[in-house]
Amino acid sequence: MKRLFWCVLIGLMLLAMVPGCSQGEAKIRIATDATWPPFEYVDEETMEIVGFDIDLMTAIAEKEDLDIEFVNVAWDPLLAGVAQCQYDAAISSITITFERAEAMLFSDPYFAAGQIVTVRIDNTDIADKDDLGGKVVGAQLGTTGAMEVEKIAGATLKSYDEIGLAYQDLMNGQIDAVIADNPLALEYVGKNSDKLKTAGEAFTSEFYGIAVCKDNPELLAKINSGLAAVKAEGLIEELVDKWLGSQ
Ligand code: ARG
Repeated sequence: MKRLFWCVLIGLMLLAMVPGCSQGEAKIRIATDATWPPFEYVDEETMEIVGFDIDLMTAIAEKEDLDIEFVNVAWDPLLAGVAQCQYDAAISSITITFERAEAMLFSDPYFAAGQIVTVRIDNTDIADKDDLGGKVVGAQLGTTGAMEVEKIAGATLKSYDEIGLAYQDLMNGQIDAVIADNPLALEYVGKNSDKLKTAGEAFTSEFYGIAVCKDNPELLAKINSGLAAVKAEGLIEELVDKWLGSQ
């Protein structure tokens, strides 16, 4: 009898050590800068974080039985936070770059994007990025868009903590152009088609990946296997239809 008692007790203790079996276990914290429609933004009516990335991460978590929560963080602290493992992972239209890959792990790519120029609808002298010399160009601080502005000879970068403020300034005539990811730019142009237009085609080739804390290759492996599974089911095409269908 005593032996049975100990067996059951040890059994329960072992079970508690298995992730997901114990109560009150900390959730996996996924950072996102929800200011980047239609990939991650706050729905004005429900006040919930929604978008392509949110659906994708939720589907991956379901596949892999990961108990996740989204944490809304500004872009600059988001990258620093994942690098310091303050967050377990981040999904935020993050372009996989060599520089970032030194500070954090990246999942397999899940979306191809590129930088594109947006100007005011009545603009006649900017046909593409090669016309930006001598112009003031807005971009979100620390993004690949800002890096592209810095490469353009004679262009002055105005960086913003939030990309929405850059488009506001552009519409108000404070700056000459904005450089940002094409799905985001098309969303702003679509919502303000009487004020904004794109100039030229996307001129970089970038891939979005999910960033993971460097100390957690196990989480990366799960995210990659969940991503492969949802990709195989055609989820990416579904999300493109759902979130980018009107672009
Ligand atoms: N793809 C760009 C980059 O990685 C911009 C991403 C910004 N994302 C955001 N949610 N603010 O630099």
